[in-house]
Amino acid sequence: MKKITIAIDGYSSCGKSTMAKDLASEIGYVYVDSGAMYRTVTLYALEHGIIKDGQIDEERLSSEMKNIEISFVFNPERGRPDTYLSGVCVENRIRTLEVSNHVSHIAALGFVRKEMVRQQHRMGKEGGIIMDGRDIGTTVFPNAELKIFVTASPEVRAQRRYDELTAKGEICNMADILRNVEERDYIDTHRDISPLRQAEDAIVLDNSSLTIAEQKAWLLQAYQKAAKD
Ligand code: CDP
Repeated sequence: MKKITIAIDGYSSCGKSTMAKDLASEIGYVYVDSGAMYRTVTLYALEHGIIKDGQIDEERLSSEMKNIEISFVFNPERGRPDTYLSGVCVENRIRTLEVSNHVSHIAALGFVRKEMVRQQHRMGKEGGIIMDGRDIGTTVFPNAELKIFVTASPEVRAQRRYDELTAKGEICNMADILRNVEERDYIDTHRDISPLRQAEDAIVLDNSSLTIAEQKAWLLQAYQKAAKD
């Protein structure tokens, strides 16, 4: 079968990365979590005092973008890549609610998006890649052979994120998470540059009531059809 490009977009916390990484390991494709890249820029900005009292020093961030070197290293224990910032693993630190609370503001900045998309193009130039995010089927790989747009109700998504964070030992409450999910949906769909929207040729998957196994089977079938066509 030919090596295709698979773009998975959708709302926050709807299980895109679980389905993307499962399919990638099943079919031997590279998996790239583009959200992790925006989270890494956000972590850098928080840890370097570039975000203070909720305000982003855009000029400083723009001049320091060259210091933000993002890479992925496959972690066999987790069966998915870990995210690295300048050679240091930041996988856990980018998943906190604090990063989630700022990431959509960082991701709305034109110079940040331009740099991330440049790196994403480089990662995907050979094909055989699954990338998930918000603008993959619309902006990053508009010619992807398979585009999926994933959605689920905000309550279902917040519950999934709550379970994920508490399993990691983070103390959080449902109301804060639901607020974050809804706020990010709003910012991501209303920003000027590459807002989250369904590509015209994307297949929609509402996974509110699907188990991980059911969603995996659905995606594998969609892939087999697209790779054969
Ligand atoms: O929490 P979840 O896993 O759903 O989000 P994520 O994929 O880690 O993405 C975090 C944030 O990065 C999103 O809420 C968007 O603001 C931004 N993002 C983006 O703007 N474009 C992408 N291609 C991926 C993520």
